[in-house]
Amino acid sequence: MKVIDVWNPKGGQGKSMFSINLAAAAIELGKKPFVICQDPQGTSMLYHKGGNLPFKVLNSIPHTKPNADILIFDHQAADWEVPSGQLLIMPFKPARDQYATYTDAFKRAEGANKEIVTIVTDTNAHRADELKVTTAMKDRGAFVIPSSGVFGRAASEYRTIFDDALNRAYKVKDRRREFIQIMSHILVEVK
Ligand SMILES: Nc1ncnc2c1ncn2[C@@H]1O[C@H](COP(=O)(O)OP(=O)(O)OP(=O)(O)O)[C@@H](O)[C@H]1O
Ligand SMILES: [Mg+2]
Repeated sequence: MKVIDVWNPKGGQGKSMFSINLAAAAIELGKKPFVICQDPQGTSMLYHKGGNLPFKVLNSIPHTKPNADILIFDHQAADWEVPSGQLLIMPFKPARDQYATYTDAFKRAEGANKEIVTIVTDTNAHRADELKVTTAMKDRGAFVIPSSGVFGRAASEYRTIFDDALNRAYKVKDRRREFIQIMSHILVEVK
């Protein structure tokens, strides 16, 4: 079973958005994922209650071995403890103040010898500083998910972007392709 920790101590960096949509991408690839929401009041639990998800969201680590191939832990904000899993996915938004927290957390994770995949999300294409950070991170192997209205729409309906109800949303095919690429990378390249 693959364990994926989606972690960034800063709030609002896209951890829940990423966890939910990564799980949906895993289903597209024939896997059986569970999302574990580390915050009982958390966003991924709300999605679950919306009733439109094709996978389970649990609010704690199951006591018995879950019937799943992939466990995705959606961590909560202000959690500075480096997660225990070997693979960390660190989403972050490239605005300057948020970049600083990401960098601190990244150093901690690196010190703990974790495998780290960085996701730059929601770059404001009109801001030169954000574009610069995005390009630099991409050069160092990060994945990029552009700012896209489909995430807000999906969130408001508690759906993943792979939901058929969003088939006609603007650029949804591009966003789906990015998530499939990231999930494939994790399955193929990362131990
Ligand atoms: N690429 C993107 N385009 C547009 N909106 C985005 C993008 N990435 C994330 N967002 C939005 O940013 C907001 C914060 O995302 P999310 O709730 O996933 O962050 P979080 O890190 O889980 O926050 P918290 O630490 O509070 O749990 C959400 O409204 C989400 O839809
Ligand atoms: Mg969250």
